[in-house]
Amino acid sequence: MDVLTSYQAYFAGQWQESESQETIEIRSPWRHEVIGSVQSVTQNEVDQAIAAAHRVQGSWANLSMNERGQYLDRWADEIEADVNALAMAVMDEVGKNFEDAKKEVLRTVDLIHYTVQEALHMHGQSVRGDGFPGGSKDKLGIITRVPLGTVLAISPFNYPINLSAAKIAPALMAGNTVIFKPATQGSICGIKMIQAFDRAGFPAGVLSLLTGHGAIIGDYLTEHPGINMISFTGSTQTGKHLSQKSIMIPLVLELGGKDPAIVCQNADLDRTAKNIIGGAFAYSGQRCTAVKRVLVNEAVADELVAKLKPAVEALKVGSPAEGSDVVPLIDDKAADFVQGLIDDALAKGATLVTGNQRDGNLLAPTLLDNVTPEMDIAWVEPFGPVLPIIRVTSNAQAIDLANRSDFGLQASVFTQDIDEALEISRGVEAGTVQVNGRPSRGPDNFPFLGVKASGMGTQGVHNSILSMSREKLTVLNLK
Ligand code: G3H
Repeated sequence: MDVLTSYQAYFAGQWQESESQETIEIRSPWRHEVIGSVQSVTQNEVDQAIAAAHRVQGSWANLSMNERGQYLDRWADEIEADVNALAMAVMDEVGKNFEDAKKEVLRTVDLIHYTVQEALHMHGQSVRGDGFPGGSKDKLGIITRVPLGTVLAISPFNYPINLSAAKIAPALMAGNTVIFKPATQGSICGIKMIQAFDRAGFPAGVLSLLTGHGAIIGDYLTEHPGINMISFTGSTQTGKHLSQKSIMIPLVLELGGKDPAIVCQNADLDRTAKNIIGGAFAYSGQRCTAVKRVLVNEAVADELVAKLKPAVEALKVGSPAEGSDVVPLIDDKAADFVQGLIDDALAKGATLVTGNQRDGNLLAPTLLDNVTPEMDIAWVEPFGPVLPIIRVTSNAQAIDLANRSDFGLQASVFTQDIDEALEISRGVEAGTVQVNGRPSRGPDNFPFLGVKASGMGTQGVHNSILSMSREKLTVLNLK
């Protein structure tokens, strides 16, 4: 019988058990058994990790950018060498199928290397002093970028490797040190990623990984005077809480979404259906950028539904170990929440096209037609495998419904008329509008942002480096 691993936390270059002598059990969402336990660290240990991060930050930032890049490249190489074990950890802990888990790990390798290169190729600016009335040719402003200090990186369960590295790598390249707090469900993946980090030989204290109960260390970290910037991906509710608790420090928040797929009369419906299916149901819809509602012109709605129904029914449902598209949700509470939205819609007269079967936290992919604004599913983010179809009579109505959402992450527009696409794109309030494609964060060099309740600040490699550094002006007074 396997002995369960009790994973240690990573304090300033040392793997240690917490002084609390308490651990948190991590259960696999699909094996339905405990797969390990992680430390429940104390506030005192948070203080120590942050103090260590500050002690080393100056010398880390003093390394040449090239030297910092070499550490990160080694980290990426270590992750790549461990790709199968890391993908297995992702599959075990958060239930992503192995192929997608492997893609996530390899995407992370690329992201780290790209971040190094991007940072190496970012340059400052000079500003001439005579460009403003009353200015002088004898003044030259030199703008460089300097680190913020210690960055708190809080990652979500659904991309436990990639969305952690997307915060850690730019923070480090910008010269910051990092306190990394993974989602509890996702901690083992975070730990394994940081084992690779440790093998890359970074100076002690550059990063500490703290696992623990939100109730004990969540607000304590957020309000800690030693934290100089927070980068968070997770729910809108937690993001709002963070923005209330953090005081005068920059925050980048990547939160929820209710991304619409707007389907116009002349859309290529085969292409549209393919994008909607992948966009809505991959990893059971547990992605902030999943397609979470379809706003389809009534003239083509029947045809679209006729294409979507067999495609939904063809999705493989079940264990991630068998390569399923639709896998058990992260926990029973998540499944109850999605079921509640389905039940509400059906009670209010939505048409069940297919789905609505449940086995514990495994929900069959569910397609609901004739959804109306009175139903919760029209507005609430399910983070699960259910897709509501709302029929509209015009593009104007589609834009209106798209914008009445609290969220504004991404939107997709399907049409073969580029003018129509641009007009809808102009009207939709979202961080990104995809024309004839599903919502997606990547490629990771694109800016990634949400408006309204979907977030604050911009990610993507270049923008993350910017948000984790600040400008510093030095003025040369020549006379
Ligand atoms: O869940 C939120 C992620 O940022 C979505 O990333 O579009 O690559 O799936 P993705």
